[in-house]
Amino acid sequence: MSQYHIKSLEEYFQVYHKSVRQPETFWEEIAEENFVWKKRWDSVLDWNFEKHEIKWFDGAQLNITENCLDRHLATRGNKTAIIFEPNDPSEPSEHITYRELHRRVCQFANVLKDQGIKRGDRVCIYLPMIPQLAVAMLACARIGAVHSVVFAGFSANALAERINDCECKIVVTSDGSFRGNKTLNLKAIVDEALETCPTVASVLVVKRTKEEVNMKEERDFWLLPLLDAAYKDCDPEIMGAEDPLFILYTSGSTGLPKGMLHTTAGYMVYTAYTFKNVFQYQENDVYWCTADIGWITGHSYLIYGPLANGATTVMYEGIPSYPDWSRFWHIVEKHKVSQFYTAPTAIRALAKENISFVEEFDLSSLKVLGSVGEPLNEEAWHWYNDIIGKGKRPIVDTWFQTETGGIMISPIPFVTPTIPTFATLPIPGIQPCLMNDEGNEIKGNPAEGRLCIKFPWPSMARSIWGNHERFKETYFSLFENKYFTGDGALRDNTGYYRITGRVDDVIIVSGHNLGTAPIEDAINEHPAVAESAVVGFPHEIKGNALYGFVILKETGETRDHDNLRKEINQIITERIGPIAKLEKIQFTIGLPKTRSGKIMRRILRKIANNDSSDLGDISTLLNPEVVEEIIEHSKV
Ligand code: WT7
Repeated sequence: MSQYHIKSLEEYFQVYHKSVRQPETFWEEIAEENFVWKKRWDSVLDWNFEKHEIKWFDGAQLNITENCLDRHLATRGNKTAIIFEPNDPSEPSEHITYRELHRRVCQFANVLKDQGIKRGDRVCIYLPMIPQLAVAMLACARIGAVHSVVFAGFSANALAERINDCECKIVVTSDGSFRGNKTLNLKAIVDEALETCPTVASVLVVKRTKEEVNMKEERDFWLLPLLDAAYKDCDPEIMGAEDPLFILYTSGSTGLPKGMLHTTAGYMVYTAYTFKNVFQYQENDVYWCTADIGWITGHSYLIYGPLANGATTVMYEGIPSYPDWSRFWHIVEKHKVSQFYTAPTAIRALAKENISFVEEFDLSSLKVLGSVGEPLNEEAWHWYNDIIGKGKRPIVDTWFQTETGGIMISPIPFVTPTIPTFATLPIPGIQPCLMNDEGNEIKGNPAEGRLCIKFPWPSMARSIWGNHERFKETYFSLFENKYFTGDGALRDNTGYYRITGRVDDVIIVSGHNLGTAPIEDAINEHPAVAESAVVGFPHEIKGNALYGFVILKETGETRDHDNLRKEINQIITERIGPIAKLEKIQFTIGLPKTRSGKIMRRILRKIANNDSSDLGDISTLLNPEVVEEIIEHSKV
């Protein structure tokens, strides 16, 4: 039996129990048998839940790119590492072998060095889904620089905020990006962002759309000539196990986005381990994750997890609806995809379209179907199972977070019996628990409460960049000695978990994690707006959509409300990005507040949900009379 690769339910339970009884032995054996190290660790795990310092494999030395690239060269040099599928189906796809990827990463690493980038420096990557994005990340890891990938759908302002927070020295971007039949001028967005980013000394620009861009002398460089001039060899920098690998920003319920800090060895071990088990990857499989690399799913399950296992991973530049809604199935057929991993929002959108988009294609290569990012509702589960899986492929509903680094609760396909809407059982090494409002663990089944994790796991975020206090406060202060996820969950009689959704002010829209506070800040920038509150409400395709309650400064405001709505959404697009636009905007004379002045979002949520029958006790409100008024106007 191999603990690295679980093949039966009996094995799963054996391995799981060992991971709880002897966590250090368990992870030590996995680390020893499946990776290459420059120096062995001194201790497997050191943790202090009081200071919230967590160290895995401390004292070990390694380079993650040696594990993802160099070690495969002898046996898999000519194997395809990345299949690039461009936005435009008439453009040929590209097969990049492990040898070729290794060479490209080394050259890119040398370009970074020539630009003065050293171990520990932060590099912002703002690129579309093209191979250079993967190469840039791995090049950072090669030389020990810390990458901070920013999703190339974020606005100039959001980009600047992220660059400044971790003081990036350099930005890697492209002239533009293709998305369906649109192009977006990324370089212009970077130029605008850099007006307020004093730490950035240079910008490397990939040519993709070939549109006209401004190149600032001595700051901006086309990447290609630099790559051509760079050496093809670059020794991997020897890193400590706990040296930072990357920062990835995620929204909090308040304040600036949180720069989640992930370190090297534990992240590598855990993402590789979960990739192998959750997708049951076999040597000649072709694996495709549709997530953008700008999110944690892309980091862990498009790049690091697959490459550490020597897998072939598909990278798709475009969107599911271009040139039409058959594109995903066309790609599955074309590359004979074995494992397909996507988000519920995509599944729901695809399910709404004509079934002929699916039926035209041969999907017989598929073995495992995955879902991530938000709850996979029953209807979408059945469509995925019946229409795509033909009732024969296991669906893995995988739960995790930017903070957890890797998949935490998920079926293991062909091993764990699945039930719609359940993420089922924890991965070995993960000890989930449910907590009640009094702060006690709910033992026994069934149970429902707040989802926490009671023991450290190798890929957990180590801190929030530059703000360890906030890290402690956000994740470890609510329940003593436990990591709090922000999600609610229930556990059924068999011990299976179902994730029910966020219990804080984070709203998941189309799988994107959005905090309400920054959106409200953007709305409040409109000169006519006095105050606002944003809540989520169920949406057929997006899972949730945003509903804004807005108080105008002048109650007798005579301006056209539809125009105001457009202007407000325009500001949100500029400050955050189009993903944060409000689906509905209701102008109101007041917002329900507690006596301490806190907005009662619970009430607004119910109204936005069209469910104002039972609002609970509102007599303690400062202004109970506004509630009637808001309900009245929500109906028009
Ligand atoms: C939040 C984390 C994890 C990668 C993408 C999102 C929600 C994630 C599931 C799932 C129900 C899920 C949770 C979580 N979520 N996966 N399988 N079922 N909800 O990463 O942006 O950090 O968001 O996504 O609410 O807390 P993220």
